[in-house]
Amino acid sequence: MKKILVTGGMGYIGSHTCVELISAGYEPIIVDNLCNSKPEVLNRIEKIAKKRPVFYLNDVRDEEKMDKIFDEHNIDAVIHFAGLKAVGESVKKPDLYFDNNIGSTEVLIKVMKKHGCKNLIFSSSATVYGDPKRVPILEDDPVGATTNPYAETKYRIENMLKSLYGEDNSWNFIILRYFNPIGAHKSGLIGEDPQGIPNNLMPYITQVAVGKLPQLSVFGNDYDTPDGTGVRDYIHVVDLAIGHVLALEKIQHAPGLMVYNLGTGVGTSVLDLVRAFEDANGLKINYKIVERRPGDIATCYASADKAYRELGFKTKYTIVDCCRDSWNWQKNNPHGFDK
Ligand code: NAD
Ligand code: WQD
Repeated sequence: MKKILVTGGMGYIGSHTCVELISAGYEPIIVDNLCNSKPEVLNRIEKIAKKRPVFYLNDVRDEEKMDKIFDEHNIDAVIHFAGLKAVGESVKKPDLYFDNNIGSTEVLIKVMKKHGCKNLIFSSSATVYGDPKRVPILEDDPVGATTNPYAETKYRIENMLKSLYGEDNSWNFIILRYFNPIGAHKSGLIGEDPQGIPNNLMPYITQVAVGKLPQLSVFGNDYDTPDGTGVRDYIHVVDLAIGHVLALEKIQHAPGLMVYNLGTGVGTSVLDLVRAFEDANGLKINYKIVERRPGDIATCYASADKAYRELGFKTKYTIVDCCRDSWNWQKNNPHGFDK
């Protein structure tokens, strides 16, 4: 197995995964329509990995073009990152999310089937668990009580893959449910580059630190958590990327349909993260406590045991590493990939 089609490979997680794929000896071929990423990412991947991936500027929903890509390359497996991911936007524009996320997966599956490529790793999300009844969350815990259209697209795609596998077990699917990816490559050359004001906590913190935003709003300190602020499972994006390399190894040697959480197994509160960021970087983050953000849950963290047992996945970066690398990326690239 050598040639790996990486949809959404120009994005935050995809770009880090391409670097790890190259270093593990794979040949990533990127398809991305750049709706949430920049062309400069390719130069940066090349600079880190010393190899420039083949890149197609293309929407995964464009079946004809996807067909041509599969004609041009003998693709062994696909890692499907492409999708829209902003929870708030999905509430305002659900049709866009259903069309893009589900539509792209349908086209991808159709083209893969036509070309006899039946190995797919899919980017799902902890949001499929909704508001979990217990933590740490196990892969077999209930899914489907989703709280927004974004999460619903992930849940429906998981079901699509499960029913396809039920009809034809020659498919190999690995569904990876990511928790909260943060951090950046240690080179500071690639990292998260959100458009506009960030929705997620870490890019918000780094933009306060760099002076682009005046103050962090901490959404609620009256949750049933140790310090009252929300608890999440923050995972370094390079650990997450390595999880995909391990999943590729798994798909070759133990085919079937498998589901794994990719998290650390550790919960960190908003204030824990702010303090870790301050300590790691010798900075002060101006913050204030405000109302809860509608739709937020108190606590969410993974059981990382299954991924450890079956993939050999074990995170090696700490929260401090995450904070240091996020800041290194932000301070070297105050305008993200725009010079
Ligand atoms: P991202 O937005 O940085 O990357 C997604 C990439 O897909 C972007 O480069 C975008 O341009 C591209 N894209 C979107 N729709 C496309 C289409 N129809 N055709 C071609 N390219 C398309 O997001 P990310 O954080 O790297 O997330 C990658 C995947 O992981 C997404 O599917 C996301 O839902 C999932 N995920 C992300 C998180 C997170 O917090 N970042 C958590 C859980 C799951
Ligand atoms: C983390 C914590 C907030 C911003 C989202 C998506 C999820 C997944 C990851 C894709 C919460 C608090 C945040 C701020 C704050 N992505 N917070 N001030 O909500 O766990 O998950 O991203 O699948 O789908 O829903 O991540 O980073 O937005 O929030 O206090 O300005 O930080 O309340 O407790 P979340 P987040």
